[in-house]
Amino acid sequence: MRKHIVAGNWKMNNDLPETQDLITSLKRQKQTSNAEVMVAPTFTNLWHANESLRTTPIEVIAQNMHFAKNGAYTGEVSAAMLKSIGVTTVILGHSERRAYFNEDDTILTQKVNAALDHEMRVIFCFGEELADRKANNHEYVVQQQISNALFHLSASAYKHIVLAYEPVWAIGTGETATPDQAQSMHAFIRQTLAAKYGEDLANKVSILYGGSVKPNNANEIFSKPDVDGGLIGGASLKAEDFFAIVNAF
Ligand code: 13P
Repeated sequence: MRKHIVAGNWKMNNDLPETQDLITSLKRQKQTSNAEVMVAPTFTNLWHANESLRTTPIEVIAQNMHFAKNGAYTGEVSAAMLKSIGVTTVILGHSERRAYFNEDDTILTQKVNAALDHEMRVIFCFGEELADRKANNHEYVVQQQISNALFHLSASAYKHIVLAYEPVWAIGTGETATPDQAQSMHAFIRQTLAAKYGEDLANKVSILYGGSVKPNNANEIFSKPDVDGGLIGGASLKAEDFFAIVNAF
C-alpha cells in the first residue's frame, strides 16, 4: 500500500509571527485520515516551525536547497544545514524554481544527488506548461523531466523519492486538472517508472498531484487510484482548508 501524503508548500509567504499563528491553528485541527502531513515554510522559519511542530505528526520540510556541501554560494542553504536543524525532506524541481531561477535538469540532478547523499527524502516536482498540453506534448515533457533528473538513480534510491505532478497551468490559477486528467497523467508516470525499474517499484512510489487543490475538489482528485496525495499551495495557508484537504482521503 502506497503512502498517502499531503504537503503544504507555503512558498514565500508568512513572516515569523504569521508562521507562529498558522502553526497555532494547525495544532487545533483534527486529523481523521491516514495521510502523512507535511508543511514547507520559508527558510527563515524552518527552525521555529520544526521546534513548534515536534510534538505533532506534522513534518516540517524545506522548499529548496543547494547541491554543494558548503562554500562560496552566497544566499544558498545546503542539505547539511537543513539536516542540522532536523529537516530531512526537501521539495526539488518546483516549476517556480525552474521558471524564475533557471533550475534545469542538470542542476536538479545535482540537487537530487546531494539530497540523497545526505539521506534526505526528495519530493521531486515536474509538470507541463499550457502550450505543451495544447500541443498534446504533455506526456513527452513529463517523461523527459523525470528521466533526465532521476533515471540515473538506482532502484533502491526510490525509497527516498516522492513524485509530484504539478501542471504549470494549474498552479495558483484556480484552474485544476480534472480528476481524469490527473489520473491519466499519474498512470502514465507510473508506466514510465515501470518501464525503467519494473512494476513492483513503480507501484511503491507515491505520486502527488499539485495545482489548485482546494477543499471542494480534493476528495474527487484523491479518489483516483494513481493519485497518492497532494502538494498544496494557496489552500495550505489556512489551517482549516489545509486539514479539510488532509482529511479528504
Ligand atoms: P496552488 O495550490 O496555489 O495552485 O499551488 C500548487 C503548488 O505550486 C504547490 O507546490
